[in-house]
Amino acid sequence: MPDGGILTIASRTLAIMPGERLDGVLPLSVGEYLSIEVTDTGIGIPPEQMEHLFEPFFTTKGSGKGTGLGLSAVYGAVKRHRGSVRVSSLVGRGTTFQILLPQGVGAARAGSHGPRGQSDQRGRPDPGGGRRRKPASERP
Ligand SMILES: Nc1ncnc2c1ncn2[C@@H]1O[C@H](COP(=O)(O)OP(=O)(O)OP(=O)(O)O)[C@@H](O)[C@H]1O
Ligand SMILES: [Mg+2]
Repeated sequence: MPDGGILTIASRTLAIMPGERLDGVLPLSVGEYLSIEVTDTGIGIPPEQMEHLFEPFFTTKGSGKGTGLGLSAVYGAVKRHRGSVRVSSLVGRGTTFQILLPQGVGAARAGSHGPRGQSDQRGRPDPGGGRRRKPASERP
């Protein structure tokens, strides 16, 4: 909001029911989500920029003013949590970013770093990336 404006942050829970789609930039499966909506009354985003927003180093800020890494970090964070982010914007009116994060039983295990958090017992990153071998009963 280079000329000022109002920033509103709202949170709620919502459920994606079977047959419903609410993907955003990443696919979401059926379940309960925490939704965090950040709405501004700023300059808005032109349609042609929409597909580039989450690319690393994409910025429209002047030299030395923006890294273009803000939204790419958001993308990485929601992806690790098996969530997503949705954007809606009108030029001259403002923008809403909606972050969706899975919640409820099992949500903490949904990320790519495994059930114990982000590292193993010695503090090393989880080399398996949270992936597990399927039990024999689930294998073809
Ligand atoms: N709320 C917004 N309103 C209008 N444009 C936005 C908004 N959020 C992001 N953008 C557009 O997306 C671009 C990329 O955003 P991102 O946060 O990744 O980088 P940045 O804001 O340019 O740099 P930095 O995050 O380092 O300050 C911005 O340069 C801007 O063009
Ligand atoms: Mg930014």
